Amino acid sequence: MITVRIRQARAADATSVADLVQEIYRPFTAGFRPTALKWSGEAVRACASSWLMAHREEELVGVVHQMPDPAGHTLDALSVSVPWRRRGIGTQLAAAVEERALGLGTRRMVVALRDSLGANIAFFTSLGYRPAQPFPPAHHLYVKEIGAQE
Ligand SMILES: CC(C)(COP(=O)(O)OP(=O)(O)OC[C@H]1O[C@@H](n2cnc3c(N)ncnc32)[C@H](O)[C@@H]1OP(=O)(O)O)[C@@H](O)C(=O)NCCC(=O)NCCS
Repeated sequence: MITVRIRQARAADATSVADLVQEIYRPFTAGFRPTALKWSGEAVRACASSWLMAHREEELVGVVHQMPDPAGHTLDALSVSVPWRRRGIGTQLAAAVEERALGLGTRRMVVALRDSLGANIAFFTSLGYRPAQPFPPAHHLYVKEIGAQE
């Protein structure tokens, strides 16, 4: 586990954010058309403040898009740079998203996961997300209640 610095993106970060998302999701095009590939630099710039960036020293090692949703606070395009995986960066980005959700008074997280992506499902399951209803085509919604009082 390594600690990363997480901050909100600015318009000037849009190209770096989009480049990382495109790099991480392009390999999936062998099997399907990942929705994350809609995130061009221009698309990221249009909603830069809803992106979080994780840096290790000066290197951008992860990003995530997050926003309120009627079904619960949601996130997408979570991307951790390949050489930096399995060191807790995805977990820290997801925790930062949950912190923002709580700050907005939301106690439920929801994410749509593609059924064929076992590693992705294993990741969100490790964070406490549980399958809810189908989200066609080829996805299920996973939910997590957050901010429970001990
Ligand atoms: C999924 C992803 C974000 C995980 O990021 P990460 O920084 O490697 O994740 P973490 O190190 O925080 O992992 C936490 C736990 O999740 C589970 N996990 C993570 N990656 C996994 C994998 N490839 N296979 C099985 N379990 C996995 C493990 O339980 C892990 O704990 P452990 O390393 O102690 O066993 C990263 O692999 C990624 O960017 N994947 C490609 C894009 C993607 O699928 N994004 C999600 C779509 S919204």
